[in-house]
Amino acid sequence: MASLKDEVLAKLSSVTGPDGRPLTASGKLSDIVASDGKLFFSITVDSAEVKEWEAVRERAEVAVRTVPGVKSAMIALTAERAAGGAAAAPPRRPQNAPAGDDARPRGGAPSRAHASTGIPGVEAIIAVASGKGGVGKSTVAVNLALALRDLGLKVGILDADIYGPSMPKLLGIRERPQTVGGTRLKPIVRHGMAVMSIGFLVEEETPMIWRGPMVMSALTQMLREVEWGALDVLVVDMPPGTGDAQLTMAQQVPLKGAVIVSTPQDLALIDARRGIAMFRRVDVPVLGVIENMSTFICPHCGTRSDIFGHGGARAEAERLGVPFLGEVPLDIGIREKSDSGAPVVASEPAGAHAQRFREIASRVREGLDAERRPAPKIVIEA
Ligand SMILES: Nc1ncnc2c1ncn2[C@@H]1O[C@H](COP(=O)(O)OP(=O)(O)OP(=O)(O)O)[C@@H](O)[C@H]1O
Ligand SMILES: [Mg+2]
Repeated sequence: MASLKDEVLAKLSSVTGPDGRPLTASGKLSDIVASDGKLFFSITVDSAEVKEWEAVRERAEVAVRTVPGVKSAMIALTAERAAGGAAAAPPRRPQNAPAGDDARPRGGAPSRAHASTGIPGVEAIIAVASGKGGVGKSTVAVNLALALRDLGLKVGILDADIYGPSMPKLLGIRERPQTVGGTRLKPIVRHGMAVMSIGFLVEEETPMIWRGPMVMSALTQMLREVEWGALDVLVVDMPPGTGDAQLTMAQQVPLKGAVIVSTPQDLALIDARRGIAMFRRVDVPVLGVIENMSTFICPHCGTRSDIFGHGGARAEAERLGVPFLGEVPLDIGIREKSDSGAPVVASEPAGAHAQRFREIASRVREGLDAERRPAPKIVIEA
């Protein structure tokens, strides 16, 4: 019997590109990931031809949805610079794609088998994400990483926000990473954690403009061309949104799970929901939701006020059937410590905030342990 992937490929051969050739012979198709009836693949085209190809992408989506057994399909169109432009990475082989079963016709950019594998020595990679900017992902990511370290785990942090890296500032890192053997980079070590950020490699004020495939190659390099060593957990601080970078991570990196950060108000929760839906669509387990900037306790009079509301993230997590991992208060100390490069879990390990982060970290660890157990996996459609 033909596999679902084969049937999808057969279907795609009936979809033609702007030049009339079948999509499967265009050299632009990435590998096809099929899991539980959910499909994911990308079409990488020259940036000048995006318009024509968007229509092809839509036709491909409609076509593959008619294949029996396909429950959902997610097809990304990514733009590549014309030949002679900046080198763009080809779409890499996504996780789960068996080696040797390449959907890309010969002559196309080569697939790389390595994306199907993890990072040697790294036990689990988790993403800290949200659909919305400024909700405290980076602050939570760095403190969560430190709290996981406090639980006795060996931890690394990858700052995947290539548009606005935060780790140089949050951890007060000014030095540049050294290279090993000319090509690989050594992460910077801070508070006993291995840290890598694009911010270590470029000047702080440099505007960073990335096109789709460049996002892929930058992230892939920071993951795979860095000497992470043996780690129990690599915490990835994601850029805001549910665009290329997130999809790339979910597609390229064997993520064990995602932690969603939200503030309590409705607007942030809508974006958090979007983030959860995105990870579910690419089959990355959502380890839970953290409500950041929750209750504010006045440092002078001790009065409690819910500036952004309170409890919204817990209610939303319950509604969506994902664990609620805990609340982090809105606190001037958290902001000041972050801004001065000494995150609160490292600088005030005996304080209430550090304790709160350690509680959250142990729930994250429980979630990871549960994912490791071979229990039947229930995938809830987003
Ligand atoms: N619990 C908190 N209490 C007080 N200030 C906080 C808290 N969490 C984050 N902040 C502050 O809010 C600002 C935004 O936080 P942060 O950079 O972590 O957000 P982000 O979601 O990573 O943003 P971006 O989307 O730009 O990456 C920072 O100044 C940070 O110090
Ligand atoms: Mg950030």
